[in-house]
Amino acid sequence: MTGVGSTEPASSGGAGLAGAGAGTNKPSRYASWTAGKLPLPELVEMKRRGEKIVMVTAYDAPSGRLADAAGVDMILVGDSSGMVMHGRESTVPVTLDEILFMTQWVTRGAKRPLVIADMPFGTYEASNEQAIGTAVRLVKEGGADAVKLERGGTSVARAKAIVDAGIAVMGHVGLTPQTATVLGGFKAQGRTADRAKELIDDAFALQEAGCFAVVLEAVPAPVARQATRALGVPTIGIGAGGDTDGQVLVWHDMLGLYEGHAPRFVKRYAELGDAITAALGRFAEEVRSGAFPEEQHTYTMPETEREAFERRAGAAPTATSRRR
Ligand code: KIV
Repeated sequence: MTGVGSTEPASSGGAGLAGAGAGTNKPSRYASWTAGKLPLPELVEMKRRGEKIVMVTAYDAPSGRLADAAGVDMILVGDSSGMVMHGRESTVPVTLDEILFMTQWVTRGAKRPLVIADMPFGTYEASNEQAIGTAVRLVKEGGADAVKLERGGTSVARAKAIVDAGIAVMGHVGLTPQTATVLGGFKAQGRTADRAKELIDDAFALQEAGCFAVVLEAVPAPVARQATRALGVPTIGIGAGGDTDGQVLVWHDMLGLYEGHAPRFVKRYAELGDAITAALGRFAEEVRSGAFPEEQHTYTMPETEREAFERRAGAAPTATSRRR
């Protein structure tokens, strides 16, 4: 029998993921179940066993709680928040304070999933010291379990410096939105043999620097497949086909809450935007018609107190007498 704290391999499938929240029932798909936070080394074990890793972005406590309740393995406090939450045109203006606040909110809601905080543009490129300083704040003040940075190149040395400082790092190659201008816009990457090779080299260099996983964004499926085979650490795909070790989607994209351009790799699992508009419309209608609030939404007071109050209310100053 497997149970909390057991290291006995679990059977695959079966247990409802609703049991995945901290301190609740064991979800059977983890081989070495421990209560509380998903242990980071479990990710590489999942890759070894061929079990897909599920990651989603989240930006506040309720979404962190819901992602935890749904049994996702990792939550990314992404700088995509700049676009989907804050209405910006790109992720570039997102600040460290914004990611810090959102990471604090998410970690209050999510207990089991690993929470990864995105390092915003301009907070890690200048030097290893700058990168370590940013990562330390995200872990120490934000409560993140790990951080993510974009690109190969100089980011490889930054990733190594952060890992050497004792913080887990996730890499991100392919379409790296922070440098989309240099890449020619928000478009798929690695579509020529040369670029595909460079991309896999970058992913490999990030692994060698100590990254525990690498996001592959907007990459042709054969390139992502090859990278996934070549790397010992898990690949997490977004627009990279079905052969990566895991998948990530942006909360607002997958739940129908973002009205901007949706890339072809987005699948909408719900139309919450429509549901919210309909609910708000019903509220507006009921306020205007007087149908809301009903008795059940209204506070009462003891009958004797009400009578006493109404007797005194006659002597209370009126709006006209107060004005005089
Ligand atoms: O910021 C983000 O949400 C991301 C994902 C698209 C991987 O980086």
